[in-house]
Amino acid sequence: MATGAAARPNPYTPGAGDRPRALVGRSEQLALAESVRSQLEAGYSANSLLYVGLRGVGKTVLLKEIADRLARAGWYAPYLELRRGLAIDAAIGAVADRFATELPSGAQLTRRVGQLLRRGGGLQVLGSGANVPANRPAPAYEDLAKVLASLAEAARQDGLGVALVVDELQAVSLASLGAIVHLVQDLRDRLPFAFIGAGLPHLPSYIARAATYTERFRYEPTDNLHEDEARAAVREPAAGEAVTWDEDALTQVVSAAGGYPYFLQLFSFEAWEVAARADTFPRITSGDVKAAEPIARRQIEAGIYGVRFDGATETERKYLFAMSELMDVQGERVRSGDVARTLNRELSAVSPTRDALIRKGIIHAPDHGLLAFSIPGFKQYVAGRAAEDA
Ligand SMILES: Nc1ncnc2c1ncn2[C@@H]1O[C@H](COP(=O)(O)OP(=O)(O)OP(=O)(O)O)[C@@H](O)[C@H]1O
Ligand SMILES: [Mg+2]
Repeated sequence: MATGAAARPNPYTPGAGDRPRALVGRSEQLALAESVRSQLEAGYSANSLLYVGLRGVGKTVLLKEIADRLARAGWYAPYLELRRGLAIDAAIGAVADRFATELPSGAQLTRRVGQLLRRGGGLQVLGSGANVPANRPAPAYEDLAKVLASLAEAARQDGLGVALVVDELQAVSLASLGAIVHLVQDLRDRLPFAFIGAGLPHLPSYIARAATYTERFRYEPTDNLHEDEARAAVREPAAGEAVTWDEDALTQVVSAAGGYPYFLQLFSFEAWEVAARADTFPRITSGDVKAAEPIARRQIEAGIYGVRFDGATETERKYLFAMSELMDVQGERVRSGDVARTLNRELSAVSPTRDALIRKGIIHAPDHGLLAFSIPGFKQYVAGRAAEDA
């Protein structure tokens, strides 16, 4: 055991929504949010920003960083994560209370939030989950719009603004989404109010179905990291603990994980665990990476691949098998028409299955009529499961 190993905490963050020590490769996305802030503070209006990307690319940690930066600038900027069955207005109410205590003292905005919380009327919308009886009807959108308008009005007097930072937007019902789009468009035109959100790649088409007027949404892709960014994502957290990666170890971990942020964190985490028990620590060597790879892969199989596959219905699995089979011939992107043919079905008969898999974030449509798996390496996993089933 190398001396001092126990004193160094593992700095990698392989978990959904876990903030990385180094948020790399997102300066453009952060700059966009920053420009929304300066537009609104100067009295101009700004487009809503919606970050779209596959599972595990880092949408949540980006949104949390944006919400934090806005809050540090004095804004009222609650981060909230949506899920099916949770009305967006109720979700906002549940976080607003906690957030009120984080506002700068003395500002108009802070006073306004305080007033709302003290008065029953405000509490109706801004009440914490704990204070609100379970059978209380969800506050209506008009109430919510009024409260947000009054917060934004107060923020304007401070030269600040209000932002809703909303994750998993594709998870709400069409009706909720339609209501929120209207609310946003109404507020944004007259007040320093920003709407910043994230969702899976099908979010733009889902929003288009939910509301007719959505031209002022700006969709910003959030993708895998480039090679040099991936290397920085691996190197920097270790550097913060005075631990260094050997060049070949770094190359190896980046090639195993690709530019996929979740895998970069996981492979690095496991390599660190191995390295911390070796005599070579505080260096991480290629031998450590080699030993850590199968450990990381087992976790991916049991966790991320397995959870997705096991959560698929029998019909959906058959669809995944057909996709995997076609990929042997067509490569990573397959035509949905060909998947239907492989299944001996009409395209229209299998499209509900395809859509359900898209909603679950297992597959996506990188281009019209084309389909791909959404997690790197999932093809090999599905092929393995198909072989087991055969
Ligand atoms: N820019 C980044 N640099 C380094 N690591 C990152 C970056 N972005 C995300 N990560 C890491 O990637 C993983 C996934 O991040 P996150 O949960 O934000 O993804 P997501 O896009 O919200 O995924 P999901 O769609 O499943 O919610 C986490 O382990 C996080 O620490
Ligand atoms: Mg997320």
